[in-house]
Formats: sequence, structure tokens, C-alpha cells
Amino acid sequence: MSKWVRAHTNIALIKYWGKENEALIIPKNNSLSLTLDAFYTDTKVTFDPSLKKDELILDGEKQASGVLNKVVTVLDLIREKAGITDRAHVESINYVPTAAGLASSASGLAALAGAANEAASLNLSPKDLSRLARRGSGSASRSVFGGFVEWEKGTTDEDSFASPVDDANWDIGMLFIIVKQAQKDVSSRDGMRRTVETSPFYDGWLATLDQDLSDMKEAIEEQDIEKVGAIAERNALKMHATTLGANPPFTYWTADSMVAMDAVRTLRKQGFTAYFTMDAGPNVKVICRQSQMAEIKLKLAEYFDEEQIISAKPGPAIHLLEN
Ligand code: ADP
Ligand code: DP6
Repeated sequence: MSKWVRAHTNIALIKYWGKENEALIIPKNNSLSLTLDAFYTDTKVTFDPSLKKDELILDGEKQASGVLNKVVTVLDLIREKAGITDRAHVESINYVPTAAGLASSASGLAALAGAANEAASLNLSPKDLSRLARRGSGSASRSVFGGFVEWEKGTTDEDSFASPVDDANWDIGMLFIIVKQAQKDVSSRDGMRRTVETSPFYDGWLATLDQDLSDMKEAIEEQDIEKVGAIAERNALKMHATTLGANPPFTYWTADSMVAMDAVRTLRKQGFTAYFTMDAGPNVKVICRQSQMAEIKLKLAEYFDEEQIISAKPGPAIHLLEN
């Protein structure tokens, strides 16, 4: 039955950057993220025999076919499983800027997988939902779960999926510094492909990931936010270093991103717990204690407008909405 499903975005603390298998979206490395409450997507899928093509209405606007590729991939998999031939009407609302490095693809494709599962009455397990969301967008595999989540890279379609690591029910949060809401020039998909294919730094990135991941899991178990933040920050910097080595080279950083990163370093010198991470876009996310968030927000307001700074706490797993 057609129902609204909500999935929250997640931000990786150990980044997914590069695919072993492009078609199946099997990554080169495990990744680990925190699901967040502040940003999410609501989606409803309706299979409709009168439609000739799948259609996506995103934030009230009918989307061009280019935006639909990832959506059709997920819908086709659902149709195949459920023996459905009808095309689908997909309605979706992003409570997150689209394609600005704020992980709209993660919440968007996870919500789609959940809503398509409802519409086809397939009753997929969370694990299978994660596998399905992964086929739409890799990071979406992690948005099926709340709190800290690890995506085990696996080697096949069957064993590449995410699972929960810790409910993050402790003093940790994230501040988003929105330096730019515009859509980015290089999508994460194209950016990671170019890096894998051409960057001499890519192997260096891969070489230290197992250590970063095991250190991160230890830090989470100890609820040691200083350690979580330090590992996440250096992991993100390594990922972004690979893009500078690509051919042609590129970066997601802007001058404002540098201002934000510097501000975080200054906060640290002032005794705050604050570390940054960045994704495939110019916005900067600050890992901090929930208990210090209000004070840090005030400090950041010395550099940015208050509307540019959004607080987020750990968020829940994918779920159905009542209406
Ligand atoms: P982001 O940093 O926002 O994740 P990406 O370039 O990785 O940016 O992904 C953006 C793409 O994800 C969009 O162009 C669209 O194809 C897809 N997407 C985003 N939101 C949704 C949604 N609610 N439903 C379906 N697809 C979505
Ligand atoms: C930098 O999941 O958007 O945010 O699998 O090609 O759709 P595709 O890529 P996507 O990449 C996310 C990259 C990242 C790091 C991360 O979220 O782990």
C-alpha cells in the first residue's frame, strides 16, 4: 500500500569514496556514519497502470529524466522482486538542500527504497532495504538505520549492506555550516570515479582506512568524542586530498569552507570539543558535544550568519509516517 516513509540523512565519519563495482555499487572500503535528526526526506510511491514512465515530483516540481536514473534503478529492482509491471508516481519532499553535499541522495534514495517497499507490499527486512537503497546511492544504504552505522563493503550484492553500530544516545551532535546551497559542479558519483581512475593519492587513501575504521569503532565504544572527532577530521582531509591529485584535478572546498575549517580549529584552541568533516560539497559539518552546541553556534556566528548554522542531533532509523 502507498504510504509516506521518512529517512534521515547521514554524514560519514569514515568516508565511502570509490567503487569496486559501479553497476552494483559495491564500495572499495567500509564506511561509518552518523544518522542525523535535522535533515530528512519524506517519500510516497504509488504504482499506477495509467503511467507510461516513472515520474518523480520533488518538492512539488516534476523532475527531468536525468534526475530519475537512480530512482528508476531502485523501482526496477522492486518491480522485479514483486512482479509488478506498472510505472510509479513518486512524490518526495527533501527537508535538506538537494545535491549540495548535505546527503540528499542518502535520505532521498533510502526513503524511496522504503516507500517502494511499502507500495509493493514486499515486507523487506532492514538488511534487504539497505541493500536496495545502496543500489540507488551508496550512502543511502546507511540511512536505513539510526545512530552510528557501518556499511560493510562486502564483495557481492548480497553481502554489501549497512548495520547499526551504536544508538549514539550520548553527548554527541553535529553543526552544519551551510556556506552554499547551490547544486555542486561535480557529483559524488563522478568525483569518486575520477579519483579512483586518475588520482595517484587514491591508493594512499585506501591504505589507512582499516586502521581509521577500527580506531573509530573503538572510540565510539568508549564514547570518546575527542577521539571520534579527530579520526573523522583526518579521514575527511585524506579523502579530499585525493581529489587534488585527480586528472583533471578538482576540489569541493571554497574559500568559505576554509574559513569554516579554520574557525573550528580556533574553537579547539579555545578549549571546545569541535572537529570538522566535509563531503562532496563546500559545506562544513562540525562534530561536537550536544551540551556545547549552543555556545559553539554563537562562536561560529562571528564568522557566518546565524541562518547558515544548523544544529543536528543523532537521528532515527527509517520509519513510516502516520499520515
Ligand atoms: P547530495 O550531496 O545532496 O547527496 P548528490 O549529487 O550525491 O548530492 O545527489 C543528488 C541527487 O540525488 C539528485 O540529483 C537526485 O538524483 C537524487 N535525489 C536527491 N533527493 C532525492 C529524492 N528525494 N528522491 C529521489 N532522488 C533524490
Ligand atoms: C563523500 O552515496 O552520493 O558523501 O553511490 O555514487 O550515489 P553514489 O555516491 P554517494 O557518495 C557519498 C560520498 C560521500 C562520503 C559518504 O557519504 O560516505
